[in-house]
Amino acid sequence: MNTFLKLLLLCCLSAGAWANEVPLEKVSVATDATTVQRGADDLMNTCHSCHSMKYIRYRDLVKYGIAKEKVDAWRGDQPMDSALLAQMSDADAMQSFGIVPPDLSIMVKARDGGPNYVYSYLLAYHNSPDGVLQNAVYPATKMPDALGISTATDDAQRSVIQGRARDITSFLAWAADPHAAERTQLGYYVLAYLFVLTLLLYFLKNQIWARLK
Ligand code: HEC
Repeated sequence: MNTFLKLLLLCCLSAGAWANEVPLEKVSVATDATTVQRGADDLMNTCHSCHSMKYIRYRDLVKYGIAKEKVDAWRGDQPMDSALLAQMSDADAMQSFGIVPPDLSIMVKARDGGPNYVYSYLLAYHNSPDGVLQNAVYPATKMPDALGISTATDDAQRSVIQGRARDITSFLAWAADPHAAERTQLGYYVLAYLFVLTLLLYFLKNQIWARLK
């Protein structure tokens, strides 16, 4: 790598490190079906009015194991193969927010900090002393406080909302890589196959050498 490229890389990396003003909260993303499905439920009720997930189709949700009746209720008269498109049109969103809410399909991969970013962003809303809604992670954001963390006063309320943010982030992490679990499983099959093959070759080798002695 020449010096210019190295310098360029250094600039990009340090710009990334400064991008977030506050340190992000860490979330342990869950991969169990119960949590992911709870996240899907909450996202469809709380976020889907504004946000699309264009790389996920209703059929993918059924394949994942979400009850067909539930998915049917979500999709209404849209076909099973339709993507999860926002209920709000882009034009309406432009009028309300001055921006179209970004697609959430691969959001956890799109932002520095990954799932930690999404989790922290959802929880970073608070009211300034003079009552102005602010977001510490993304100060200029045009998104309202969807989970209501800015008005949650006691710890019990806050921890419920933190749980919801974790569920939703876990669902978004699944959505950004829906085949991760299958890949891991395939890895185990490959390892088992190689193990059996090694055993067979070992016995074969023993047999051949036994004859040579
Ligand atoms: C009322 C409409 C609305 C709802 C409901 C809503 N959002 Fe948003 N969201 C927006 C808008 C508008 C933006 C663009 C914000 C901007 O860039 O200023 C946005 C941006 C985002 C971003 C990207 C922030 C970034 O760094 O660019 C994420 C992540 C996000 N929303 C997640 C969610 C989740 C998860 C929910 C449900 C809990 C949700 N949103 C509910 C309108 C909404």
